[in-house]
Amino acid sequence: MNAADSVLQLVRPDILALTAYSSARKESKGGRVWLDANENPETPSVHQPLFNRYPEPQPAELVAQLATLYGVAPAQVLVTRGSDEGIDLLLRTFCRAGQDAILITPPTYGMYVVAAGIQGARTITVPLIREKNFALDAEAVLRAVTPEVKLVFLCSPNNPTGGLLERAAVLSLVRALAGRAVVVVDEAYVDFSGQPSLAAELAANSNLVVLRTLSKAYGLAGARVGTTIADPAVISVLQKVIAPYPVPAPVLQAALAALTPTGLTAARESVARLVAERGRLAAALARLPAVKRVWPSDANYLLVAVADSARTMAAGRATGVVWRDRSKDLPHHIRITVGTAEENNATLEVLSRV
Ligand SMILES: Cc1ncc(COP(=O)(O)O)c(C=O)c1O
Repeated sequence: MNAADSVLQLVRPDILALTAYSSARKESKGGRVWLDANENPETPSVHQPLFNRYPEPQPAELVAQLATLYGVAPAQVLVTRGSDEGIDLLLRTFCRAGQDAILITPPTYGMYVVAAGIQGARTITVPLIREKNFALDAEAVLRAVTPEVKLVFLCSPNNPTGGLLERAAVLSLVRALAGRAVVVVDEAYVDFSGQPSLAAELAANSNLVVLRTLSKAYGLAGARVGTTIADPAVISVLQKVIAPYPVPAPVLQAALAALTPTGLTAARESVARLVAERGRLAAALARLPAVKRVWPSDANYLLVAVADSARTMAAGRATGVVWRDRSKDLPHHIRITVGTAEENNATLEVLSRV
């Protein structure tokens, strides 16, 4: 059995058998008079047609640019509405409701368990090792993977703890789970880490999926542009499940602008500024009496242990400064996004008075 076949064995059989919806834009290429998709020939609200046509389902230019950005082939790329849609598509593609499960390593990003809940999949948890700076317990994960577990979600850098997972540990899991489960590495914040993506390992590991996004380092959270990077066979199956036109025309414009040489330079400069601010903010926070611990971060946020999270959050709210309370998973911890220098000063100002 070749590698692609072994990962396809993990896909829901009914999805494998499904005939995908064939949209008008998929079937017709190179036309002159477009009368196949029941579109309006005008955009009545303005004088010239703007957004009256359905967009390409997977705009070739954007797919090519993202493939270049992430160092993979276009056939390994699926553009989604944020990486959140990638998570949802993976759940719906691999997990049979009421039968299959995912595995997560808490504390971690909340959407994995929500997407599993919506799909009717169970969630198995193997906590990160707090005493080792929230390291991955690869052996415990391996022991916990039953035949029902189709997807293992690893977040690196991890939200909310901030640290990268050890590359060798992640790769050992991917290899050990070949033919048994898909390992999804969510790299929403990897741009802030200075470390290479695991996408380079895809060619050798068909059960690896990497999630990237333009929401964070590229400042396009409002545009909703995520990328699922996977074996071409997996991308083909995900294309059966995704909505027909996930990349609206204005979003395509915004994404292509971000990926021009000027856009890419601006993003690099923004990341450099935020990484410098992260260092300054972490050092200043660590000096405040209300702060018990600042966890090391490879991302654009800091996980901070405070003396009293309820009082701290209330102090922030009272002055209009909003952080994320993570005390449900981690008692008396809050997560603070690294903002502009001015915004970070607002954080320091409020916390210095708690
Ligand atoms: C770890 C992680 N993955 C994915 C996402 C979703 O990002 P997107 O805006 O690409 O949907 C987030 C958003 O905060 C996140 O923290």
